[in-house]
Amino acid sequence: MMQPNLIPVLDPNPLPAPYWVFVSLLIITFVLHIVAMNFMLGGAVVALMAKWRAKNRVLGNRVFFDVAKKLPSLLPATITIGVAPLLFVQVLYGRFIYTSSVIMAWPWFLVLIFLTVAYYGFYYVSFRSGQHPGRAGTVMLSSVILIFIIGFLFSNNLTLSQTPSRWGAKYFADPSGWNLNLSEPTLIPRFLHFFVAAVALGGLFLVFVALANWKRDHEYARQVLQFGGKSFLYATMAQFAVGIWFLISLPRGMRMLFMGDSPLATALFLVGLTGGVAAIVLMSGALRNENLRVAAYLVPGIVAVVIACMSVMRDLLRDAYLNPWFNPGQIAEKTQWSVFPLFLVLFVSGVILWLVMLARYGFFGSRKESAQ
Ligand code: HEM
Repeated sequence: MMQPNLIPVLDPNPLPAPYWVFVSLLIITFVLHIVAMNFMLGGAVVALMAKWRAKNRVLGNRVFFDVAKKLPSLLPATITIGVAPLLFVQVLYGRFIYTSSVIMAWPWFLVLIFLTVAYYGFYYVSFRSGQHPGRAGTVMLSSVILIFIIGFLFSNNLTLSQTPSRWGAKYFADPSGWNLNLSEPTLIPRFLHFFVAAVALGGLFLVFVALANWKRDHEYARQVLQFGGKSFLYATMAQFAVGIWFLISLPRGMRMLFMGDSPLATALFLVGLTGGVAAIVLMSGALRNENLRVAAYLVPGIVAVVIACMSVMRDLLRDAYLNPWFNPGQIAEKTQWSVFPLFLVLFVSGVILWLVMLARYGFFGSRKESAQ
């Protein structure tokens, strides 16, 4: 049977700025969103590991409640920074992401409910302390599971949005909207790639907590550095296995983009791989010598470059998937010069203000009373 064409027609309204500007803003805001998400989800996972696995229980509890206090700010940060790429992705790929969202409408709608419940859970845990832990561990685990599922739903939607040839069969098999994209071979490795990265960045988050407490409470900071640094190390090592799985799960044509067919994709891939190895070597040296500078400045700097490379690679991959259906050349452009510079100024100021707020708020600092 001929599959009907389910891709909505191109919006004839012109883009209000050049196409490449929207692509750049999508990638930049996606990086910001994913870093906030990694700190939130990875931070929560590492905090749970500290609570349940650390040999020193007092230390484990203190790390747990220190991180727990920051989660009610990190979750809305993830959400609000997620709105920006959502707007850009709608402008550029709305025909694809709206359709996939309709096909998996009910699981997609559940994102809102899971988010709300997870948010309550984070608040509950943040109001607890070492003296009055209540059910902090169990509640935190429940929130982490909900957020894990949300991430998985995002990967379902994004992989479905870039494979329109599957839409017809999926939609007509179940038009009610109770669909996922579980038959997609890249789904699990792709999502695990994000999840393992989140755990690694959760480890780096603890390294920043160690940095903020280095002078105030040196002994605590030393132990947090070791715990966070090791979480980063093991997760990044595991990432090599997951990353290879993701790469081999890609259709051959896409895989070869990163292995010579596209000079840009290959160069980004090589920089990313080299950065990953360098981060592992540097972090293990930093932990041996307790070199805080390397752990808290150099390694995060390298990781930022790796995330930037991977995010551009992700975008190149989307374009490769959508190539048969999507031609940026067909999108009309009419730059609105009167408002575009104002937008850029406000955007950059907003990001700077956000960073200043984090610094003012003493975001990475620790409260000693939560240790007991
Ligand atoms: C708090 C829980 C959230 C988690 C764990 C999460 C996680 C993720 C992950 C893993 C991806 C990448 C999926 C992939 O490429 O396979 C992603 C992409 C994305 N997220 Fe989130 N997300 C969350 C919340 C949100 C919210 C609330 C929004 C919007 C308001 C949002 C906006 C986006 C957008 C627009 C993308 C795709 C950007 C693109 O296609 O380039 N996220 N998210």
